[in-house]
Amino acid sequence: MLLLLNLAACGGDAGTSIAGSTASPQAVPPVSSAAALAAPVPPTSPAAAPVEQPSLVPIVNGEGAALTVSTTGSIDKGNAFFKAFGNGRSCASCHQESQGWSIRPDNLQDRFTQTNGSDPVFALNDGANSPNALTATIDQKRLAYSMLLTKGLIRVGLAVPADAEFTLVKVDDPYGYASTKELSLFRRPMPTTNLKFLSTVMWDARETFADARSNLCIRNSRPLQCFATTDFDLLHQSNSAVTGHAQAAQGLTAAEQRSIVDFEKTLFTAQITSLAAGNLTDAGAKGGPLELAKNNFYFGINDIDVGDYVSGASFDRNVMAMFTTWRGLDRPTPPIPPAQGRPGQPGQPPSAINIARASVARGEQIFNNKPFNVTGVAGFNGELRVALQRATCTSCHSVGNVGSHSVPRLFNTGVSDASLRTPDMPLYTLRNKLTGEVMETTDPGRAMNTGKWQDIGRFKVPSLRAIEARSPYFHNGGMIELTDVVKFYDKRFNIGLTPQEIIDLTEFLKVL
Ligand code: HEC
Ligand code: HEC
Repeated sequence: MLLLLNLAACGGDAGTSIAGSTASPQAVPPVSSAAALAAPVPPTSPAAAPVEQPSLVPIVNGEGAALTVSTTGSIDKGNAFFKAFGNGRSCASCHQESQGWSIRPDNLQDRFTQTNGSDPVFALNDGANSPNALTATIDQKRLAYSMLLTKGLIRVGLAVPADAEFTLVKVDDPYGYASTKELSLFRRPMPTTNLKFLSTVMWDARETFADARSNLCIRNSRPLQCFATTDFDLLHQSNSAVTGHAQAAQGLTAAEQRSIVDFEKTLFTAQITSLAAGNLTDAGAKGGPLELAKNNFYFGINDIDVGDYVSGASFDRNVMAMFTTWRGLDRPTPPIPPAQGRPGQPGQPPSAINIARASVARGEQIFNNKPFNVTGVAGFNGELRVALQRATCTSCHSVGNVGSHSVPRLFNTGVSDASLRTPDMPLYTLRNKLTGEVMETTDPGRAMNTGKWQDIGRFKVPSLRAIEARSPYFHNGGMIELTDVVKFYDKRFNIGLTPQEIIDLTEFLKVL
């Protein structure tokens, strides 16, 4: 029997969907082997009418351009992903190709200005800071949607689970709406591309379902945690999105769910050119979406705890290997001494492009190999048997050339800590029913789903490809630039990065 870990819709409140009512039995794929996850993507549903349009065009961003490719050869704008439901929203209202299949504040501000705030993305249910916000005048609207306009945040409304190990003892919501019945959790839309490499769906894994019959189990977990395939999760998620975000009275048919998920799974997105480093497939580099699509994935690939579930190989921290041929390109060419009557040649300084490429290659090495101590991270410390807790970025971002995590294992890196709260965010005070311990957080994350005290503040490890296209970062959009993210980690884990290392690591993240 399928045990649904969480019944909350994407943006809806907990308890509205129940097992079996939203996904028909035919929609449940066989849970057989890890290979099923890596199986070739079936073609999109014949029901979707293909529209003639140019696709596979690089889209400019701050660092150069990102490109989305589809395994079908074109991006099928006739797919139900682009169809308006309920309140007029489609999936593309919040997942746009031009913004790395998420949404960015600059684009949202344009949409607001062009439509006087009437674009369907500006809907009270979860686009506004509070469903009760006033929207009679354009100024009121601008205030009502300020979290969406400034940080690209959607209000995910979730109830504290009835059997939670904690109670909500205080709510400080600047918008006067949140309560035990429904916390307002402001979160960034996650990209609907590169889904081949996912083990976990949604920031808090609430669309990742337990399945006791499955053999997709986290080794060494006690009690053993086994999961449905991500394909099953995504089918369920598509329906939750339509009844939640789009407020559709009726859910999707099984065929529509299949068609949307098949469409999503054809997409691969990555940065393809860099203003500083040029074409990301030049000089032996393996950037861009075509190379990305070739990477392997299955449940438990390169796991930090036990190594590779299928090959049995031990964990390899050299997760990123796209820019190895760019190493040392910034060396000046040495002078050539005169010989056999030929005049000598002076040494040449490196070109600007080679200086940029060498920086990217150094950043890749820092990401793989710069060690630091991970302390105080729920999900990492205490639960994993990593020697001396000596970690690198790839301990968590461990899926090869992608940076996601190959089993549903979520971590609290401190992003929703009270110490990082900005005045625009609600703050929640939780008390442990058993110990009386009190904790303040802007988002309890995984704990809103499991009700477990130890899960407070835990979020999934996102894929890092095409990340330049979808600022701001983290679940709460708290970091605008990638260099801010790097500095966050440097401080959080006391890494001791030099100014040059901060630049190199940032340059690397920008070309993913
Ligand atoms: C109003 C904006 C909005 C709309 C409309 C919307 N989404 Fe989302 N989507 C989000 C947000 C916000 C999240 C992250 C929520 C969270 O994790 O709590 C998300 C997460 C996802 C994820 C999870 C990706 C991952 O890495 O875990 C998928 C898949 C997805 N959406 C697909 C869809 C589909 C399919 C549709 C249309 C049927 C859709 N979304 C409509 C805002 C939206
Ligand atoms: C202990 C596990 C862990 C380690 C170590 C770690 N990360 Fe993360 N990373 C996460 C989690 C979890 C998130 C999501 C956090 C959130 O939004 O609350 C994340 C988010 C990110 C994001 C933002 C992604 C997005 O979509 O917004 C970037 C960029 C990133 N990490 C880079 C790095 C770099 C660079 C390092 C090394 C300096 C690193 N990470 C080390 C777990 C980790």
